[in-house]
Amino acid sequence: MNKKLWGGRFSTRTDPLVEQYTSSIAVDYRLARYDVEGSIAHAKMLGRCRIISAAESRTLVGALRRILQRIAAGRWKPDPSAEDIHTQIQQALQRLVGPVAKKLHTARSRNDQVCLDVRLYCRDAVERLTRAIRAAQSSLVAFGWANRQVIIPGYTHLQRAQPVLLAHHLLAYVEMLQRDADRLTGARARIDVLPLGSGALAGTSLPIDRAYVAKLLHFARVSANSMDAVSDRDFALELLAVLSSLAVHLSRLAEDLILWTTEEFGILALDDAVATGSSLMPQKKNPDVLELIRGQAGLIIGRETAFLTMLKGLPLSYNRDMQWDKRLLFEAVEESLSALEVLARLLRRVAVQHGQLPRLMASDALCATDLAEYLVARGVAFAEAHAAVGRLVAYAEGRRRRLGQLRVHELQRFSPRFDRAALALLNPATSVARKRSAGSTNPRLVHAALVRWQRKLKNQ
Ligand code: ARG
Repeated sequence: MNKKLWGGRFSTRTDPLVEQYTSSIAVDYRLARYDVEGSIAHAKMLGRCRIISAAESRTLVGALRRILQRIAAGRWKPDPSAEDIHTQIQQALQRLVGPVAKKLHTARSRNDQVCLDVRLYCRDAVERLTRAIRAAQSSLVAFGWANRQVIIPGYTHLQRAQPVLLAHHLLAYVEMLQRDADRLTGARARIDVLPLGSGALAGTSLPIDRAYVAKLLHFARVSANSMDAVSDRDFALELLAVLSSLAVHLSRLAEDLILWTTEEFGILALDDAVATGSSLMPQKKNPDVLELIRGQAGLIIGRETAFLTMLKGLPLSYNRDMQWDKRLLFEAVEESLSALEVLARLLRRVAVQHGQLPRLMASDALCATDLAEYLVARGVAFAEAHAAVGRLVAYAEGRRRRLGQLRVHELQRFSPRFDRAALALLNPATSVARKRSAGSTNPRLVHAALVRWQRKLKNQ
C-alpha cells in the first residue's frame, strides 16, 4: 500500500532521509482529533451534495467515528513512518473500510485541511487558556483577600514610593490577565472562519457546500478567498501575540514574587512544596518555579518572532515553510498553560511574613507625598508644597531623624500651613485610607474590587 497521499507521477522511491526530514507527524499528531472531526463534516457534506453516494458517506463517517473514539480513549499512537497526521488517518481509514476510503479526499487538499485543523486546535486552545487564566486570577484574588489588611511599600524605579495594599498590587495583575483573556476572545473571532473548501489554492469545480460544513463544525463564517485561506496564518499569529503579552505579564509577576521572597525584601515566604534547594548550599530555598516562568517569556516571544519571520517572505499561496508553524504554536500554547497552572498552585502556597512588615514600613518618608497633598488641601500650590516637603525630607535626613520625630515648629519652618494634624499623616494605614480617587489603593475601594472579582470569576 502506498503510504503517501501522492506519488502517481513519481518513478523512484523517496530518499528515506528526505522522508524523515519532511515528516511532521512527531509534531502534528496533536491534530488527530481535529483532523478526524473535520473529515467527518467533509464526508457528510460530500454525501449530501451527491459527490459521493449516501452509503459511501455513511461508511466513511462511521469509520471516522470509530477512529475518533480510539483517539478520545487514548488508544491511538502516532505512526512515525507516516508523513503527517492527515496521511496516518487516511491509512487507518483505508484499513477499516478499504477502497472507499479513497473518496474522502475529494474536493480537498492538505492545504485547506491543515489550516482547518490548526483553526480547530486554536479554538480549543483559546478555551483552555481562558480557563487557565481565570484559575490564576482566582488564586491572585484569594491571596489578596486573605491578606487584605496588609500594607507594603509600593515602588517606582524599584525605590520605595508610597504605601499600597498588597491586594492592590495583586489586583493589578488580575486586570492585566483579564485584558489577555479579552484579547483571546478577540482573537477567537478571527480564528472562527472555515478554510475547508478552498482546495489547494483555487477552490474546486465540484459542487461542494461550504456553508453546511461551517455549520457542522460551528464556524461563524466561511473564508472569502481561497488563496487567503490556505496562505495566511495570522489567526495563529494573533494567538501567539496574546501569549507573548500573557507571558510578559506572568514574567513580571514572577519577578515581583522573586523579589518579595528575598531576605532583603522579606515580604513573602514560599512554602517548601513550591520551592527548590541548592545542591551545594544547604541553607538555600530557591524560587526556581518563578524563575522558570520569568524565563519562559523569552521562549514565547521568540516563537512569535520565529513565526513572523518564517511567514514574512512567502509568496502566495501554500509553501512547506508553513509546516514549522505548528511546532511554534503548540509549544507556546502548552508552555503558557503549564506556566498558568503552576503559578496558580504556587500562589496558594505563599505566606506573608507579617513579622517583617514593620521593618519594611519603618521609613515614614513613604508618606511624604501625603504631606505635600495636605498642604495643597490648605491652599498651597502643589509645586511649592512639593519643594517644601522635599526640603523637609532633606532636613530630617541631615539630622538622622525620621519625619515623625520632628516637632510641629520644625515643620512650620518649611511651610506655615503645617500643624499638628500633619504629623498624624506619617502613617501607612492613614496614607492608604486617605486615598480617594477611583482606582486608588484606598482599602474600601480595594475591598470592593476584591469582591467584584470574586463574583466575576465565580460567574464566568
Ligand atoms: N504537513 C503539512 C503542513 O503542516 C501539511 C500540508 C502539506 N501540503 C503540501 N502541499 N505538502 O503544512
